[in-house]
Amino acid sequence: MDSKLGMLLQSLSLRLNDSFVSGEVTIANSQGKRKLTVHPVWDTDRFRVQVQGKSPQEGAADEIIGEIISVIGEKDDFLLVFVDRTSELTMERRRGKVSTRISDKKRLDADQDHVSYEPAGGTRQQFVNVREAADLFRAVGIMSEDGQVKGDKRRKLYQVDRFIELVAQMLDNWPEGRELTILDCGCGKSYLSFALNYYIHEKLRKPCYFIGIDNNEKVVAASRAIQEKLMYRNMEFVVSDVKDYKPGRKVDMVLSLHACDTATDMALALGVDLGSKYIVAVPCCQSSLNDEIDFGSLAPIAAYNVFKTRLADTITDGLRSLGLEAYGYRVSVAEYVSPLDTPKNIMLRAEYTGKTNAVRTYAELKEKLGIVPWLDRLLEARRSD
Ligand SMILES: C[S@@+](CC[C@H](N)C(=O)[O-])C[C@H]1O[C@@H](n2cnc3c(N)ncnc32)[C@H](O)[C@@H]1O
Repeated sequence: MDSKLGMLLQSLSLRLNDSFVSGEVTIANSQGKRKLTVHPVWDTDRFRVQVQGKSPQEGAADEIIGEIISVIGEKDDFLLVFVDRTSELTMERRRGKVSTRISDKKRLDADQDHVSYEPAGGTRQQFVNVREAADLFRAVGIMSEDGQVKGDKRRKLYQVDRFIELVAQMLDNWPEGRELTILDCGCGKSYLSFALNYYIHEKLRKPCYFIGIDNNEKVVAASRAIQEKLMYRNMEFVVSDVKDYKPGRKVDMVLSLHACDTATDMALALGVDLGSKYIVAVPCCQSSLNDEIDFGSLAPIAAYNVFKTRLADTITDGLRSLGLEAYGYRVSVAEYVSPLDTPKNIMLRAEYTGKTNAVRTYAELKEKLGIVPWLDRLLEARRSD
């Protein structure tokens, strides 16, 4: 066989074997008539190959390459197209000459590459290119079939987009080629995980694996259905309470976006317990400490219910941040979107450094406020399990 063709088929075999990529292959003859199609078999490392005129068969990537070699023969013209998440690889033999090209899949108008849209308070250029990732955003239901971002999903898109932008900044120093495992706690329908998976794998070109957990069976089933539609094989979704979850692999980043009340603390405790390098949380509704905090000299202000709730929210998130510092993380706190988009707009970003400078301050503050934060309670429960 032509040595160039041999090398190209070898690289195709590697691509088929890449568990992150879901690729389909078609081969046609010079008249455009299909001679072979290959589809991945969901949830396995195998492929279903259909050679024209034969019954379909299943096989591993190497066996599939064997079938491809026998179909293209020694001399005949052929056109082979391999399509994965974002690119299209074409190999052609025409009058004995082999050529190849690779192109980005742009299913939608190329001159509308980036959609800008209006979060509360102004227009913003999107971080993740919705048009380039149209398959993804359609599958998760953020974009309609005709390629428009749905009106009631704009805020969600904005929040997910900002979340990804801020997470991406944390990954600058992630070692080249090392797989990053991300655990999304209270994943819901997993908009965030799907979009972040797309961004890290396709744009940052970093190998990654996602685990989404939620205690609601329906949203886990919905996430699995989207996963199958997208053929994103580097993901798994598990029905579990965050409190009880024990992963079967090393986790590098724990995320939670609007996990309800103490589920945020469960995610933080899980991240600390697992020694996760990164923890990123956007807390949601929180009321667990409202009636436990000793407001001390601020009690006359906390006598007004609205102020009490706001003070308690701030103290709860402040203690979460300080707690993470005490457990060895460097923490930054930001308003990740405008409060007009969602009042639950505080993002805690933590990276493990091993320095525990805040231990004393944290202990003293807890004593003053007369409380044991949920992070501590849940971490202790995990560690004594
Ligand atoms: C407001 S939704 C957010 C979903 C998703 N993170 C998002 O931003 O689209 C909160 C999710 O957390 C899940 N959840 C709440 N408490 C949980 C717990 N203790 N363990 C697992 N999942 C939990 C709920 O079932 C729900 O799907």
